Amino acid sequence: MTTIHIDSRPYIAQDGDNLLQQCLSLGFNLPYFCWHPALGSVGACRQCAIKQFKNEDDQRGKIVMACMTPVTDGARISIDDPEAREFRASVVEWLMVNHPHDCPVCDEGGECHLQDMTVMTGHAYRRYRGRKRTFHNQNLGPLVNHEMNRCIQCYRCTRFYRDYAGGRDFDALALRNQVYFGRHEDGILESEFSGNLVEVCPTGVFTDKTLKQHYTRKWDLQTAPSVCVHCGLGCNTIPGERYGTLRRIRNRFNGAVNGYFLCDRGRYGYEFVNSKHRIRQPLLRKARGAALQSAIKHDALQHIAALLSNGNRVIGIGSPRASVESNFALRTLVGPERFYAGVSEQDNRLLASILDILRQGPARSPSLHEVELADAVLVLGEDVCNTAPLLALALRQSVRSQPQKIAEKMHIPHWNDNAVREAVQQERGPLFIATVAGTKLDDVATRTFRAAPGDLARLGFAVAHALDSSTPPVQDMPDALQELAVTIAEALKTAERPMIISGMGCGDRAVIEAAANVAWSLSNTGHPVELCFAVPECNSLGAAMIGGASFESAFEIVGSGTAHNDNVAEATAETSTGVAADFYADTVIILENDLYQRADAAVVDRFLAAAKHVVVIDHMDNATCARADVVLPAGTFAEADGTLVNNEGRAQRFFQVFVPKGDIQESWRWAQDIMTITGSCKGQPWMNLDQITASCAAAIPLLQPILHAAPPADFRVGGQKIPRQPHRYSGRTAMRADISVHEPKPPEDPDAPLSFSMEGYLGHPPSALIPRFWAPGWNSGQAVNKFQDEVGLPLAGGDPGVRLIEPVPARKAEYFSNVPTAFTRRADEWLVVPLHHVFGSDELSVLAPAIAELAARPYLALNPADAAELGLAAGNESRLQLLRATDGTGYSLPVQLKPELQRGVAGLPAGLPGLAGIILPAWGKVTRLGIGMKQGAPP
Ligand code: SF4
Ligand code: SF4
Ligand code: FES
Repeated sequence: MTTIHIDSRPYIAQDGDNLLQQCLSLGFNLPYFCWHPALGSVGACRQCAIKQFKNEDDQRGKIVMACMTPVTDGARISIDDPEAREFRASVVEWLMVNHPHDCPVCDEGGECHLQDMTVMTGHAYRRYRGRKRTFHNQNLGPLVNHEMNRCIQCYRCTRFYRDYAGGRDFDALALRNQVYFGRHEDGILESEFSGNLVEVCPTGVFTDKTLKQHYTRKWDLQTAPSVCVHCGLGCNTIPGERYGTLRRIRNRFNGAVNGYFLCDRGRYGYEFVNSKHRIRQPLLRKARGAALQSAIKHDALQHIAALLSNGNRVIGIGSPRASVESNFALRTLVGPERFYAGVSEQDNRLLASILDILRQGPARSPSLHEVELADAVLVLGEDVCNTAPLLALALRQSVRSQPQKIAEKMHIPHWNDNAVREAVQQERGPLFIATVAGTKLDDVATRTFRAAPGDLARLGFAVAHALDSSTPPVQDMPDALQELAVTIAEALKTAERPMIISGMGCGDRAVIEAAANVAWSLSNTGHPVELCFAVPECNSLGAAMIGGASFESAFEIVGSGTAHNDNVAEATAETSTGVAADFYADTVIILENDLYQRADAAVVDRFLAAAKHVVVIDHMDNATCARADVVLPAGTFAEADGTLVNNEGRAQRFFQVFVPKGDIQESWRWAQDIMTITGSCKGQPWMNLDQITASCAAAIPLLQPILHAAPPADFRVGGQKIPRQPHRYSGRTAMRADISVHEPKPPEDPDAPLSFSMEGYLGHPPSALIPRFWAPGWNSGQAVNKFQDEVGLPLAGGDPGVRLIEPVPARKAEYFSNVPTAFTRRADEWLVVPLHHVFGSDELSVLAPAIAELAARPYLALNPADAAELGLAAGNESRLQLLRATDGTGYSLPVQLKPELQRGVAGLPAGLPGLAGIILPAWGKVTRLGIGMKQGAPP
């Protein structure tokens, strides 16, 4: 820490930072454009000019750019100096010369950084009367709108898109006085982080194209703190609602998780909430074979009560996409022994392994911010670019950690972005990527390795053995692979913050165990080691903590009865997970889970046919709902509150954004209603979220800290709740004028310390309760600066969420020893592995029209040599039949050639509509369509 003088008053400042960052941290309103806390300084816009003085006697001083000037002890600067003020005013005036001044029709209006800075500098009168420079706009695809005339040439967009996120199809294109920011021609932006341009650009050049479809002014949005539900990372979001529909998602800064950014799946996947396929009323099938019909809540619950009181035996199937509380409520309703995790046996085992590894070993699960700081990384088996996009973005920053030292030696501060990049050139820290197919991170990888999952695991085991010879050796390793293992081991051993990244993406437990062995053996070298697992869904880890056998076990129990028979035989079989099945079930309650997404359709068909009664609690009309006797409408993340546990083991609370129409309510409330109507409620019913969270924390020790994920519902600041509506919210009385001129009382919220109104505490609430970032004079997202003690660092009071898992210093578990044998190609059979797609592989986001437009189409990936052997070329129709499919069902798929695939391995896109529910890896036969294969249902 050091002392600086701003306008003759002393302040304590952070040594080494730049003056702009420090002035903002100290609460001064100093305008800027090109600087960004995550991107650093380039001094491009000249907007942050201040006066700097040599010493106390210096009365003249000189104009400097605050963002390019380091804090030094005793520095004397002036923000208020008339010359500095005039300089800043003239900068904004010339930046506005070509700006169209179209704020009234600009989507950015009302939360525009350029508007804020223009007002802040006092530029209120337009003197320029000449012609303005104009540009053609581009069609950049369904996500981002382009309006180039509003550009002020700050270069933030290219710096984010190219330098930070690694995109290559977007740039600054210049000719004389024309600097154009876009693609070389119209076309869809290729980066899965393109939506961040909307927030990074300080003006309205890039705006949210999906918001345009149902535009509303930003100050009219009702918002609440939320968490993304489209992968397992738990990025923090701010969804905005108006007139009962969700209008957009913005980033919610969390210094430990997503920082300033989101991926496009997370930003644009929200529109499933508005889908016409939503279930908004209970649905009831009064007799078998009859159609599902809308019913009132009371009738639906009475019907369920009748089902459950007729001696029928019930089981519950939970869900990794439902909150901790909803899973726990179902578990309470049916009893822990009758509660099944809503995932396949394969996923259940993988999740259990991950939990065990993180809880029983010395390797710590890092936050995304900590991933950025890693200085040597091994990625084993996970295509993070498609399964956990923000993790990939963090890894892209991590390769700068080691080279940063070059700049440090040259005394270049880390925030001086261009100078650091000049010093570092193409130097990158060690990043080794071992996956089944190519990844978008390969351009920054030190070495890559492509193989079948088992061989990836073998590489991991070999790395572990090279680090610690007491780990199991790998037999028959080719020399080249052994050399790679030793190289990786050496890089990890010599790093200060080594990190191993793996996950469930290739569906192989040996890969996860190999990653654990590497991390654990590294910990013997004395470094704190970090081990990060990607998990597929927003609450995969939370659901795993609640437990329950796989749904295959449930299938066996229900399947052991006689289909639709009132006298279902007792089942005595032992299930494959070892759960004693000394009971049978004939009624199934399925929580937020389309089973057809998780198991072969034929198996699910048999299961649902065998069940005498099926009750579904979900928000989307899907194939499982279509087979139900009763469907209860559940709230989505925007219509419910709850807790999700991300891949780090961080429990985070999401809050209801708006009160939905119809009978939609949280799934846990439906479970509570069923318990109440059937009289099976033990103890007091849960009246609010806090009560069920407390029950859950008491019943499951691992989840005990979720109580502290956010303040309870009775939390108040000065006796007031936190308003979900901004104080500028308009039309509150007019929006219902066609119904009544009397303004109704806002809905009560028993679950959160947030209100559905404009009234309440307008200051800064605890970080987990911040519904939007706004401060006087700061209407754009840049207002987040005002919520941090030090700009760019955690939110004041700490970032939201609580960690549930911490490493144990001494490893409790033995090294894993199940080293797979080397992959051997089979004659006429292929090991089919899952290939994930950021757009398409997630069940919910693909229901959003903009994401559906970008989603991958079904295909079969083959090595070109394999394809040639089969007489297949790119685009030819192939026929894939998995060996376990005994009914002859196969898939007709166009061939894509992927030279990086190991011979004998084929790739199938995971989770795409038409291909969902296929559990991979699995062996299959591939032929040219129409040759010697029985025709099955097309995908
Ligand atoms: S498009 Fe936006 S971010 Fe890019 S240079 Fe122009 S104003 Fe800056
Ligand atoms: S990385 Fe995952 S959690 Fe984050 S925004 Fe994207 S889909 Fe959502
Ligand atoms: S913010 Fe300092 S020059 Fe742009």
